[in-house]
Amino acid sequence: MGESNGPRQQDRRYLWHPFTPMAQWNSQEQLVIEQAEGVYLIDDQGRRYLDGVSSLWCNVHGHPVEKIDEAIKEQLQKVAHTTLLGLVSPPAAELAERLVKITPGGLSKVFFSDDGSTGMEVAIKIAFQYWQNKGKKRQSFLALRNGYHGDTLGAVSLGGIELFHKIYGPLLFETCLAPSPYCYRCELGLDRKSCGLACAAKVEDILKERAGKIAAMSIEPIVQGAGGMIVAPEGYLRRIREITKKHGVLLIADEVATGFGRTGKMFACEHEGVEPDIMCLSKGITGGYLPLAATLVRQEIFEAFSGPEQTFYHGHTYTGNALACAAGLANLDIFEKEEVVEQLGAKIGRFAERLEELKRQDFVGDVRYKGLMAGIELVADVPSKQAFGCEQRIGARVCEAIRKRGVILRPLGDVIVVMPPLSICLEDIDRLFDAVGQGLRSCRSLLKSAGQEGRRNDG
Ligand SMILES: Cc1ncc(COP(=O)(O)O)c(C=O)c1O
Repeated sequence: MGESNGPRQQDRRYLWHPFTPMAQWNSQEQLVIEQAEGVYLIDDQGRRYLDGVSSLWCNVHGHPVEKIDEAIKEQLQKVAHTTLLGLVSPPAAELAERLVKITPGGLSKVFFSDDGSTGMEVAIKIAFQYWQNKGKKRQSFLALRNGYHGDTLGAVSLGGIELFHKIYGPLLFETCLAPSPYCYRCELGLDRKSCGLACAAKVEDILKERAGKIAAMSIEPIVQGAGGMIVAPEGYLRRIREITKKHGVLLIADEVATGFGRTGKMFACEHEGVEPDIMCLSKGITGGYLPLAATLVRQEIFEAFSGPEQTFYHGHTYTGNALACAAGLANLDIFEKEEVVEQLGAKIGRFAERLEELKRQDFVGDVRYKGLMAGIELVADVPSKQAFGCEQRIGARVCEAIRKRGVILRPLGDVIVVMPPLSICLEDIDRLFDAVGQGLRSCRSLLKSAGQEGRRNDG
Protein backbone atom coordinates (compact mmCIF):
# COMPACT_ATOMS: atom_id res chain seq x y z
CA MET A 1 0.00 0.00 0.00
CA GLY A 2 2.68 2.48 1.08
CA GLU A 3 5.00 1.82 -1.90
CA SER A 4 5.77 4.85 -4.00
CA ASN A 5 5.50 3.00 -7.29
CA GLY A 6 2.69 0.53 -6.67
CA PRO A 7 -0.39 0.05 -8.83
CA ARG A 8 -2.35 2.83 -7.08
CA GLN A 9 0.30 5.42 -7.73
CA GLN A 10 0.88 4.19 -11.27
CA ASP A 11 -2.86 4.15 -11.87
CA ARG A 12 -3.31 7.70 -10.57
CA ARG A 13 -0.43 8.96 -12.60
CA TYR A 14 -0.74 7.10 -15.90
CA LEU A 15 -4.07 5.36 -16.42
CA TRP A 16 -7.18 6.82 -18.02
CA HIS A 17 -10.14 4.58 -17.21
CA PRO A 18 -13.01 3.79 -19.57
CA PHE A 19 -16.42 5.41 -18.94
CA THR A 20 -15.01 7.10 -15.85
CA PRO A 21 -15.18 10.70 -14.63
CA MET A 22 -11.46 10.80 -13.84
CA ALA A 23 -11.43 13.65 -11.30
CA GLN A 24 -13.82 11.70 -9.17
CA TRP A 25 -11.88 8.49 -9.69
CA ASN A 26 -8.69 10.08 -8.48
CA SER A 27 -10.37 11.33 -5.33
CA GLN A 28 -11.50 7.90 -4.22
CA GLU A 29 -9.74 4.77 -3.05
CA GLN A 30 -9.04 2.38 -5.95
CA LEU A 31 -9.75 -1.29 -5.67
CA VAL A 32 -6.78 -3.26 -7.01
CA ILE A 33 -7.72 -6.76 -8.14
CA GLU A 34 -4.82 -9.18 -8.16
CA GLN A 35 -6.46 -12.58 -8.51
CA ALA A 36 -9.73 -14.40 -8.86
CA GLU A 37 -11.23 -17.65 -7.69
CA GLY A 38 -14.55 -18.94 -8.99
CA VAL A 39 -16.92 -15.96 -9.06
CA TYR A 40 -14.81 -14.06 -6.51
CA LEU A 41 -12.29 -11.33 -7.27
CA ILE A 42 -9.48 -10.93 -4.72
CA ASP A 43 -7.84 -7.57 -4.04
CA ASP A 44 -4.26 -6.81 -3.01
CA GLN A 45 -5.30 -6.91 0.65
CA GLY A 46 -6.71 -10.43 0.25
CA ARG A 47 -10.33 -9.23 0.45
CA ARG A 48 -12.82 -11.20 -1.66
CA TYR A 49 -15.63 -9.68 -3.72
CA LEU A 50 -18.37 -11.50 -5.56
CA ASP A 51 -18.22 -10.35 -9.19
CA GLY A 52 -21.88 -9.46 -9.75
CA VAL A 53 -21.31 -8.09 -13.27
CA SER A 54 -19.09 -10.80 -14.76
CA SER A 55 -16.22 -8.33 -15.34
CA LEU A 56 -18.40 -6.20 -17.58
CA TRP A 57 -20.67 -9.02 -18.74
CA CYS A 58 -18.03 -11.27 -20.25
CA ASN A 59 -16.96 -13.85 -17.67
CA VAL A 60 -19.01 -17.02 -18.01
CA HIS A 61 -17.54 -19.90 -16.00
CA GLY A 62 -15.69 -18.03 -13.22
CA HIS A 63 -11.90 -18.12 -12.73
CA PRO A 64 -9.71 -19.96 -13.53
CA VAL A 65 -11.21 -22.43 -15.97
CA GLU A 66 -8.87 -25.35 -16.35
CA LYS A 67 -10.10 -26.36 -19.81
CA ILE A 68 -9.67 -22.85 -21.18
CA ASP A 69 -6.24 -22.49 -19.50
CA GLU A 70 -5.14 -25.77 -21.06
CA ALA A 71 -6.46 -24.88 -24.52
CA ILE A 72 -4.59 -21.57 -24.47
CA LYS A 73 -1.36 -23.23 -23.25
CA GLU A 74 -1.63 -25.92 -25.90
CA GLN A 75 -2.12 -23.31 -28.60
CA LEU A 76 0.77 -21.25 -27.21
CA GLN A 77 3.08 -24.18 -27.80
CA LYS A 78 2.13 -24.08 -31.49
CA VAL A 79 1.73 -20.39 -32.29
CA ALA A 80 0.10 -17.43 -30.55
CA HIS A 81 -1.03 -15.52 -33.61
CA THR A 82 -0.86 -15.57 -37.38
CA THR A 83 -2.85 -13.37 -39.72
CA LEU A 84 -6.07 -14.41 -41.45
CA LEU A 85 -5.16 -12.13 -44.36
CA GLY A 86 -3.99 -14.69 -46.88
CA LEU A 87 -3.57 -17.54 -44.35
CA VAL A 88 -5.78 -19.91 -42.39
CA SER A 89 -5.40 -20.99 -38.78
CA PRO A 90 -6.94 -24.24 -37.50
CA PRO A 91 -8.59 -22.76 -34.37
CA ALA A 92 -10.19 -19.91 -36.36
CA ALA A 93 -11.53 -22.29 -39.01
CA GLU A 94 -12.89 -24.74 -36.42
CA LEU A 95 -14.46 -22.01 -34.32
CA ALA A 96 -16.17 -20.58 -37.42
CA GLU A 97 -17.73 -23.99 -38.14
CA ARG A 98 -18.87 -24.48 -34.57
CA LEU A 99 -20.40 -21.02 -34.33
CA VAL A 100 -22.37 -21.57 -37.53
CA LYS A 101 -23.65 -24.85 -36.09
CA ILE A 102 -24.92 -23.38 -32.81
CA THR A 103 -26.34 -20.03 -33.94
CA PRO A 104 -29.87 -19.63 -35.37
CA GLY A 105 -30.52 -21.17 -38.79
CA GLY A 106 -29.48 -19.39 -41.94
CA LEU A 107 -26.23 -17.88 -40.64
CA SER A 108 -23.46 -19.53 -42.60
CA LYS A 109 -20.27 -17.41 -42.71
CA VAL A 110 -18.18 -15.93 -39.92
CA PHE A 111 -16.07 -12.77 -39.99
CA PHE A 112 -13.82 -12.41 -36.95
CA SER A 113 -12.81 -9.18 -35.26
CA ASP A 114 -11.69 -8.11 -31.80
CA ASP A 115 -14.53 -6.88 -29.60
CA GLY A 116 -18.21 -6.03 -29.60
CA SER A 117 -17.70 -2.63 -31.22
CA THR A 118 -15.56 -3.91 -34.07
CA GLY A 119 -17.97 -6.82 -34.54
CA MET A 120 -20.73 -4.25 -35.02
CA GLU A 121 -18.60 -2.13 -37.38
CA VAL A 122 -18.22 -5.24 -39.52
CA ALA A 123 -21.99 -5.81 -39.44
CA ILE A 124 -22.72 -2.20 -40.40
CA LYS A 125 -20.23 -2.14 -43.26
CA ILE A 126 -21.39 -5.52 -44.59
CA ALA A 127 -25.04 -4.38 -44.51
CA PHE A 128 -24.14 -1.12 -46.26
CA GLN A 129 -22.00 -2.74 -48.93
CA TYR A 130 -24.46 -5.59 -49.47
CA TRP A 131 -26.96 -3.15 -50.95
CA GLN A 132 -24.28 -1.35 -52.98
CA ASN A 133 -23.13 -4.68 -54.36
CA LYS A 134 -26.71 -5.41 -55.36
CA GLY A 135 -26.91 -2.06 -57.15
CA LYS A 136 -29.27 -0.48 -54.63
CA LYS A 137 -28.77 2.72 -52.72
CA ARG A 138 -29.90 1.91 -49.22
CA GLN A 139 -27.62 4.02 -47.09
CA SER A 140 -29.25 4.72 -43.76
CA PHE A 141 -29.92 2.59 -40.70
CA LEU A 142 -32.66 2.10 -38.16
CA ALA A 143 -31.91 1.55 -34.50
CA LEU A 144 -33.65 1.86 -31.15
CA ARG A 145 -33.57 4.55 -28.54
CA ASN A 146 -31.66 3.33 -25.47
CA GLY A 147 -29.70 1.04 -27.79
CA TYR A 148 -25.97 0.49 -27.36
CA HIS A 149 -23.70 -1.24 -29.83
CA GLY A 150 -20.23 -0.08 -28.78
CA ASP A 151 -17.98 2.96 -28.89
CA THR A 152 -16.46 3.04 -32.37
CA LEU A 153 -18.11 5.61 -34.61
CA GLY A 154 -20.25 3.26 -36.68
CA ALA A 155 -21.54 1.59 -33.53
CA VAL A 156 -22.11 5.01 -31.93
CA SER A 157 -24.11 6.06 -35.02
CA LEU A 158 -26.57 3.29 -34.14
CA GLY A 159 -26.51 4.22 -30.46
CA GLY A 160 -29.52 5.66 -28.70
CA ILE A 161 -28.14 6.75 -25.33
CA GLU A 162 -27.89 10.54 -25.19
CA LEU A 163 -25.38 10.67 -22.36
CA PHE A 164 -22.87 8.55 -24.27
CA HIS A 165 -23.64 9.39 -27.88
CA LYS A 166 -24.97 12.94 -28.28
CA ILE A 167 -21.63 14.74 -28.24
CA TYR A 168 -20.37 12.81 -31.28
CA GLY A 169 -23.42 13.78 -33.38
CA PRO A 170 -21.45 15.74 -36.04
CA LEU A 171 -19.22 12.72 -36.68
CA LEU A 172 -21.99 10.18 -37.21
CA PHE A 173 -23.93 8.85 -40.21
CA GLU A 174 -27.68 9.17 -40.44
CA THR A 175 -29.72 6.74 -38.37
CA CYS A 176 -33.45 6.77 -37.59
CA LEU A 177 -34.26 5.96 -34.01
CA ALA A 178 -37.46 4.10 -33.15
CA PRO A 179 -38.95 3.93 -29.64
CA SER A 180 -37.35 1.56 -27.19
CA PRO A 181 -39.70 -1.11 -25.79
CA TYR A 182 -39.08 0.33 -22.32
CA CYS A 183 -42.46 -0.47 -20.85
CA TYR A 184 -41.76 1.00 -17.40
CA ARG A 185 -41.42 4.42 -19.02
CA CYS A 186 -43.17 3.89 -22.35
CA GLU A 187 -42.42 6.90 -24.54
CA LEU A 188 -45.76 6.36 -26.30
CA GLY A 189 -47.48 6.68 -22.93
CA LEU A 190 -48.92 3.15 -23.07
CA ASP A 191 -49.23 0.48 -20.41
CA ARG A 192 -47.01 -2.61 -20.27
CA LYS A 193 -49.43 -4.73 -22.27
CA SER A 194 -49.67 -2.39 -25.24
CA CYS A 195 -46.16 -0.89 -25.25
CA GLY A 196 -44.28 -3.66 -27.12
CA LEU A 197 -46.53 -4.03 -30.14
CA ALA A 198 -47.09 -0.27 -30.40
CA CYS A 199 -43.30 0.26 -30.42
CA ALA A 200 -42.97 -2.40 -33.14
CA ALA A 201 -45.69 -0.62 -35.14
CA LYS A 202 -43.59 2.57 -34.98
CA VAL A 203 -40.72 0.61 -36.53
CA GLU A 204 -43.02 -0.38 -39.35
CA ASP A 205 -44.16 3.24 -39.83
CA ILE A 206 -40.51 4.30 -40.27
CA LEU A 207 -39.81 1.47 -42.70
CA LYS A 208 -42.84 2.46 -44.78
CA GLU A 209 -41.96 6.14 -44.70
CA ARG A 210 -38.37 5.47 -45.71
CA ALA A 211 -39.08 2.61 -48.09
CA GLY A 212 -36.02 1.55 -50.06
CA LYS A 213 -33.66 3.77 -48.04
CA ILE A 214 -32.85 1.72 -44.94
CA ALA A 215 -30.11 -0.87 -45.25
CA ALA A 216 -30.55 -2.56 -41.89
CA MET A 217 -32.07 -2.37 -38.45
CA SER A 218 -29.94 -3.14 -35.41
CA ILE A 219 -31.35 -4.61 -32.25
CA GLU A 220 -30.14 -6.03 -28.96
CA PRO A 221 -32.45 -9.05 -28.85
CA ILE A 222 -34.74 -9.25 -25.78
CA VAL A 223 -32.52 -7.12 -23.49
CA GLN A 224 -31.20 -3.63 -24.23
CA GLY A 225 -28.22 -3.86 -21.90
CA ALA A 226 -26.37 -0.56 -21.50
CA GLY A 227 -29.60 1.39 -21.98
CA GLY A 228 -30.69 0.13 -18.56
CA MET A 229 -31.32 -3.63 -18.81
CA ILE A 230 -34.56 -2.99 -20.64
CA VAL A 231 -36.40 -6.26 -21.23
CA ALA A 232 -38.63 -6.24 -24.30
CA PRO A 233 -42.12 -7.67 -23.80
CA GLU A 234 -42.85 -11.09 -25.27
CA GLY A 235 -43.53 -11.02 -28.98
CA TYR A 236 -41.71 -7.73 -29.67
CA LEU A 237 -38.58 -9.30 -31.18
CA ARG A 238 -40.62 -11.75 -33.28
CA ARG A 239 -42.69 -8.87 -34.60
CA ILE A 240 -39.56 -6.87 -35.48
CA ARG A 241 -38.30 -9.85 -37.48
CA GLU A 242 -41.63 -10.11 -39.33
CA ILE A 243 -41.65 -6.40 -40.12
CA THR A 244 -38.03 -6.18 -41.29
CA LYS A 245 -38.53 -9.25 -43.48
CA LYS A 246 -41.71 -7.82 -44.96
CA HIS A 247 -39.95 -4.57 -45.88
CA GLY A 248 -36.76 -6.25 -47.11
CA VAL A 249 -34.55 -4.65 -44.44
CA LEU A 250 -31.64 -6.63 -42.97
CA LEU A 251 -31.89 -7.40 -39.26
CA ILE A 252 -28.64 -7.18 -37.30
CA ALA A 253 -28.96 -8.99 -33.96
CA ASP A 254 -26.35 -7.63 -31.58
CA GLU A 255 -25.92 -10.55 -29.16
CA VAL A 256 -22.67 -9.18 -27.78
CA ALA A 257 -24.18 -8.94 -24.28
CA THR A 258 -27.03 -11.45 -24.51
CA GLY A 259 -25.15 -14.30 -26.22
CA PHE A 260 -23.68 -17.36 -24.55
CA GLY A 261 -26.43 -18.23 -22.13
CA ARG A 262 -27.01 -14.92 -20.35
CA THR A 263 -30.76 -14.81 -20.98
CA GLY A 264 -31.32 -18.50 -20.31
CA LYS A 265 -30.90 -19.63 -23.92
CA MET A 266 -27.61 -19.85 -25.77
CA PHE A 267 -28.71 -16.83 -27.83
CA ALA A 268 -31.54 -14.44 -26.98
CA CYS A 269 -33.01 -14.74 -30.51
CA GLU A 270 -33.93 -18.33 -29.64
CA HIS A 271 -36.59 -17.16 -27.15
CA GLU A 272 -38.76 -16.07 -30.07
CA GLY A 273 -37.46 -18.34 -32.83
CA VAL A 274 -35.86 -15.38 -34.62
CA GLU A 275 -33.34 -15.88 -37.41
CA PRO A 276 -31.50 -12.60 -38.04
CA ASP A 277 -29.63 -11.78 -41.25
CA ILE A 278 -26.51 -10.77 -39.37
CA MET A 279 -25.49 -11.61 -35.81
CA CYS A 280 -22.71 -10.17 -33.66
CA LEU A 281 -21.06 -12.10 -30.86
CA SER A 282 -18.28 -11.16 -28.44
CA LYS A 283 -17.90 -10.88 -24.63
CA GLY A 284 -18.74 -14.47 -23.57
CA ILE A 285 -17.35 -15.99 -26.77
CA THR A 286 -14.03 -16.84 -25.05
CA GLY A 287 -15.62 -17.44 -21.65
CA GLY A 288 -14.41 -13.94 -20.77
CA TYR A 289 -10.72 -14.76 -21.23
CA LEU A 290 -9.55 -12.96 -24.36
CA PRO A 291 -10.88 -10.34 -26.77
CA LEU A 292 -12.62 -11.79 -29.82
CA ALA A 293 -15.75 -11.04 -31.82
CA ALA A 294 -17.60 -12.81 -34.60
CA THR A 295 -20.03 -11.36 -37.12
CA LEU A 296 -22.13 -14.07 -38.75
CA VAL A 297 -24.08 -13.55 -41.97
CA ARG A 298 -26.53 -15.46 -44.13
CA GLN A 299 -25.24 -17.16 -47.27
CA GLU A 300 -27.14 -14.80 -49.54
CA ILE A 301 -25.33 -11.82 -48.00
CA PHE A 302 -21.95 -13.51 -48.33
CA GLU A 303 -22.65 -14.32 -51.99
CA ALA A 304 -23.33 -10.67 -52.76
CA PHE A 305 -19.61 -10.11 -52.12
CA SER A 306 -18.37 -12.67 -54.61
CA GLY A 307 -17.92 -10.51 -57.72
CA PRO A 308 -14.48 -9.18 -58.68
CA GLU A 309 -15.32 -5.67 -57.50
CA GLN A 310 -17.40 -6.68 -54.53
CA THR A 311 -14.71 -7.60 -52.04
CA PHE A 312 -15.18 -6.64 -48.40
CA TYR A 313 -12.10 -4.54 -47.75
CA HIS A 314 -12.08 -4.73 -43.99
CA GLY A 315 -9.95 -6.54 -41.42
CA HIS A 316 -7.96 -6.10 -38.25
CA THR A 317 -4.41 -7.18 -37.44
CA TYR A 318 -5.52 -9.64 -34.77
CA THR A 319 -8.58 -10.89 -36.65
CA GLY A 320 -9.19 -14.50 -35.62
CA ASN A 321 -6.32 -14.56 -33.12
CA ALA A 322 -5.36 -18.19 -32.51
CA LEU A 323 -5.18 -17.97 -28.71
CA ALA A 324 -8.59 -16.30 -28.53
CA CYS A 325 -10.10 -18.86 -30.93
CA ALA A 326 -8.59 -21.71 -28.90
CA ALA A 327 -10.22 -20.20 -25.80
CA GLY A 328 -13.47 -19.89 -27.78
CA LEU A 329 -13.37 -23.58 -28.72
CA ALA A 330 -12.73 -24.65 -25.12
CA ASN A 331 -15.58 -22.38 -24.04
CA LEU A 332 -17.96 -24.12 -26.46
CA ASP A 333 -16.74 -27.54 -25.26
CA ILE A 334 -17.67 -26.56 -21.71
CA PHE A 335 -21.10 -25.30 -22.79
CA GLU A 336 -21.71 -28.59 -24.58
CA LYS A 337 -20.19 -31.16 -22.24
CA GLU A 338 -21.39 -29.56 -19.02
CA GLU A 339 -24.77 -28.62 -20.50
CA VAL A 340 -24.30 -25.15 -19.05
CA VAL A 341 -27.46 -23.61 -20.50
CA GLU A 342 -29.62 -26.68 -19.80
CA GLN A 343 -28.51 -26.59 -16.14
CA LEU A 344 -29.38 -22.94 -15.55
CA GLY A 345 -33.03 -23.49 -14.55
CA ALA A 346 -32.62 -23.56 -10.76
CA LYS A 347 -30.25 -20.57 -10.78
CA ILE A 348 -32.59 -18.54 -12.95
CA GLY A 349 -35.46 -19.47 -10.61
CA ARG A 350 -33.58 -18.35 -7.48
CA PHE A 351 -32.36 -15.19 -9.25
CA ALA A 352 -35.95 -14.29 -10.17
CA GLU A 353 -37.22 -15.05 -6.65
CA ARG A 354 -34.66 -12.77 -5.04
CA LEU A 355 -35.32 -10.02 -7.58
CA GLU A 356 -39.07 -10.21 -6.97
CA GLU A 357 -38.43 -9.70 -3.23
CA LEU A 358 -36.60 -6.46 -4.02
CA LYS A 359 -39.75 -5.01 -5.54
CA ARG A 360 -41.00 -4.52 -1.98
CA GLN A 361 -38.08 -2.28 -1.00
CA ASP A 362 -38.44 1.46 -0.81
CA PHE A 363 -37.16 3.43 -3.81
CA VAL A 364 -37.26 0.40 -6.12
CA GLY A 365 -39.34 1.54 -9.09
CA ASP A 366 -38.86 -1.36 -11.47
CA VAL A 367 -37.15 -4.73 -11.45
CA ARG A 368 -36.64 -6.40 -14.82
CA TYR A 369 -34.80 -9.53 -15.77
CA LYS A 370 -34.32 -12.32 -18.26
CA GLY A 371 -32.22 -15.35 -17.38
CA LEU A 372 -29.27 -14.09 -15.34
CA MET A 373 -29.44 -10.49 -16.58
CA ALA A 374 -31.22 -7.95 -14.41
CA GLY A 375 -31.73 -4.25 -13.80
CA ILE A 376 -33.12 -2.70 -10.63
CA GLU A 377 -34.29 0.85 -11.34
CA LEU A 378 -34.17 3.16 -8.32
CA VAL A 379 -36.49 6.15 -8.24
CA ALA A 380 -37.06 9.08 -5.90
CA ASP A 381 -40.80 8.41 -5.77
CA VAL A 382 -42.27 5.03 -6.66
CA PRO A 383 -45.89 6.02 -7.48
CA SER A 384 -44.90 8.86 -9.84
CA LYS A 385 -41.70 7.10 -11.09
CA GLN A 386 -39.84 10.36 -10.49
CA ALA A 387 -36.15 9.86 -11.12
CA PHE A 388 -33.33 11.10 -8.89
CA GLY A 389 -31.18 13.91 -10.27
CA CYS A 390 -28.13 12.67 -12.23
CA GLU A 391 -25.81 14.80 -10.09
CA GLN A 392 -26.88 12.83 -7.03
CA ARG A 393 -25.13 9.72 -8.41
CA ILE A 394 -27.59 7.50 -6.57
CA GLY A 395 -26.83 4.34 -8.54
CA ALA A 396 -23.09 4.75 -7.94
CA ARG A 397 -23.54 5.49 -4.24
CA VAL A 398 -25.78 2.48 -3.71
CA CYS A 399 -23.22 0.29 -5.52
CA GLU A 400 -20.53 1.65 -3.18
CA ALA A 401 -22.65 0.55 -0.21
CA ILE A 402 -23.14 -2.88 -1.81
CA ARG A 403 -19.39 -3.17 -2.40
CA LYS A 404 -18.80 -2.64 1.33
CA ARG A 405 -20.80 -5.85 1.71
CA GLY A 406 -18.48 -7.77 -0.57
CA VAL A 407 -20.26 -7.61 -3.94
CA ILE A 408 -19.07 -5.70 -7.00
CA LEU A 409 -21.86 -4.19 -9.08
CA ARG A 410 -21.79 -1.33 -11.58
CA PRO A 411 -24.81 0.88 -12.20
CA LEU A 412 -26.14 2.36 -15.41
CA GLY A 413 -27.36 5.70 -14.06
CA ASP A 414 -29.80 4.70 -11.31
CA VAL A 415 -30.28 1.19 -12.63
CA ILE A 416 -28.33 -1.36 -10.59
CA VAL A 417 -27.15 -4.03 -13.01
CA VAL A 418 -26.87 -7.61 -11.81
CA MET A 419 -25.31 -10.06 -14.23
CA PRO A 420 -23.17 -12.68 -12.50
CA PRO A 421 -21.18 -15.43 -14.25
CA LEU A 422 -23.34 -18.39 -15.27
CA SER A 423 -21.23 -20.55 -12.94
CA ILE A 424 -22.56 -18.77 -9.82
CA CYS A 425 -24.07 -21.22 -7.29
CA LEU A 426 -27.40 -20.82 -5.47
CA GLU A 427 -25.65 -19.87 -2.24
CA ASP A 428 -23.75 -17.07 -3.97
CA ILE A 429 -26.95 -15.82 -5.63
CA ASP A 430 -28.34 -15.47 -2.11
CA ARG A 431 -25.16 -13.78 -0.90
CA LEU A 432 -25.32 -11.36 -3.81
CA PHE A 433 -28.93 -10.35 -3.19
CA ASP A 434 -28.45 -10.20 0.59
CA ALA A 435 -25.75 -7.60 -0.09
CA VAL A 436 -28.01 -5.71 -2.51
CA GLY A 437 -30.85 -5.65 0.04
CA GLN A 438 -28.56 -4.58 2.90
CA GLY A 439 -26.81 -2.00 0.73
CA LEU A 440 -30.14 -0.49 -0.28
CA ARG A 441 -31.42 -0.41 3.29
CA SER A 442 -28.20 1.24 4.48
CA CYS A 443 -28.78 4.02 1.92
CA ARG A 444 -32.35 4.68 3.02
CA SER A 445 -31.73 8.08 4.54
CA LEU A 446 -29.53 9.10 1.60
CA LEU A 447 -32.27 8.08 -0.84
CA LYS A 448 -34.92 9.86 1.19
CA SER A 449 -33.07 13.14 1.37
CA ALA A 450 -32.01 12.92 -2.30
CA GLY A 451 -35.66 12.41 -3.26
CA GLN A 452 -36.80 15.35 -1.14
CA GLU A 453 -34.07 17.56 -2.56
CA GLY A 454 -35.09 16.56 -6.11
CA ARG A 455 -38.71 17.44 -5.41
CA ARG A 456 -37.68 20.80 -3.88
CA ASN A 457 -35.59 21.60 -6.96
CA ASP A 458 -38.45 20.57 -9.27
CA GLY A 459 -40.97 22.58 -7.31
C1 LIG B 1 -25.00 -5.04 -26.94
C2 LIG B 1 -23.58 -4.57 -26.99
N1 LIG B 1 -23.01 -4.40 -28.20
C3 LIG B 1 -21.73 -4.01 -28.33
C4 LIG B 1 -20.97 -3.74 -27.21
C5 LIG B 1 -19.56 -3.27 -27.37
O1 LIG B 1 -18.68 -4.25 -27.00
P1 LIG B 1 -17.15 -3.90 -26.65
O2 LIG B 1 -17.19 -3.13 -25.37
O3 LIG B 1 -16.51 -5.23 -26.52
O4 LIG B 1 -16.61 -3.11 -27.78
C6 LIG B 1 -21.52 -3.92 -25.95
C7 LIG B 1 -20.74 -3.65 -24.74
O5 LIG B 1 -21.20 -3.61 -23.65
C8 LIG B 1 -22.87 -4.33 -25.83
O6 LIG B 1 -23.47 -4.47 -24.65
